[in-house]
Amino acid sequence: MKIFLLRSTSLTEVIFHERTRLPLKPIVTVTNIFPEVALEKLSFHCELRINDTETPPTSEELKRFAGESAALITYLSDKIGPDIIDSGKNLKIIANYGAGFNNIDVACARQKGVWVTNTPGVLHETTADLTWAMILGMARQIVPADRYTREKKFKGWQAKLFLGGDVYGKTLGVIGCGEIGRAVARRALGFNMRVLYHQRNRLPDVVEKQLGAEFVSLEDLLRQSDFVTLHVPLTDATKYMVGKAQLEMMKPSAYLIHTARGKVVDDKALVEALKAGKLAGAALDVYENEPKLTAGMTELDNLMLLPHIGSASTDTRNCMALLVADNVLDALAGKQPRSLVPGWQ
Ligand code: 8YV
Repeated sequence: MKIFLLRSTSLTEVIFHERTRLPLKPIVTVTNIFPEVALEKLSFHCELRINDTETPPTSEELKRFAGESAALITYLSDKIGPDIIDSGKNLKIIANYGAGFNNIDVACARQKGVWVTNTPGVLHETTADLTWAMILGMARQIVPADRYTREKKFKGWQAKLFLGGDVYGKTLGVIGCGEIGRAVARRALGFNMRVLYHQRNRLPDVVEKQLGAEFVSLEDLLRQSDFVTLHVPLTDATKYMVGKAQLEMMKPSAYLIHTARGKVVDDKALVEALKAGKLAGAALDVYENEPKLTAGMTELDNLMLLPHIGSASTDTRNCMALLVADNVLDALAGKQPRSLVPGWQ
């Protein structure tokens, strides 16, 4: 397999056709570390260039990559705006490695005829698993209890040591009942929970019945739920959907679980609400100014902080990468890619 590493190899090493001076195979640039299985698949059909470091490219580098490539494989940390899309004179596709695609100006790409794809259908179960780890982890104080034991503070059984709350039989509020939200709700059946959900449009009856989920207003969901979990995409309509006013509607015994996109929650308001005891705790996998944490977060014991690992299982990351590769190969073959983002069609 022939791969050019962007930071360690000069781009002039690409093999050009003697007469046309065009690269022999279309150039596909991957902006970050990418699963081997998908690189292998792509390598038969294209000249791969990968950034083999964890440092995301600068916007200048992204512009250059767009100008030189037929396909860009991007990550949530790559902001793909009009300047970068405009540089992509031969760019056919921007294939995002993730379900969320708020990092890409889809309208601009569409106008320029550049396909934009994401990875639906392959990461929802894994993200739902993590959401449940966060729900259970908060209710039973798993992280603080581990820290306590590690610090050798455990001196024997105590009747009141790490008394938590129950999950079984409680009320779960799912905000955004797409693939991930539904996978989270489905798991609640085994915990005999009452499930409330809120989103723009009501689910079909049959789906509501399967999930045993009730459609309610955002306010009712916040006021009644013991665990509120967020699964909406980041759009103009969902930006700061949970701020001071919404946090004040939550029960003081309730938890907020967030694996969606940072800017859906006002993190400053969340820190204030946690300090003031407006809710019992929160678990975050994403941040308003990711990867920066908001001041005060690390001092709060009732806050679980994770480094955006919603889809981080080996199997799922491989499936996501293979879907990205299929989208790229579709586009290079002149076909409509199989998972165009909503809004492109
Ligand atoms: C991805 C995610 O790993 O799918 C998403 O939207 O947030 C993550 O699971 C991330 O987008 C990588 O680019």
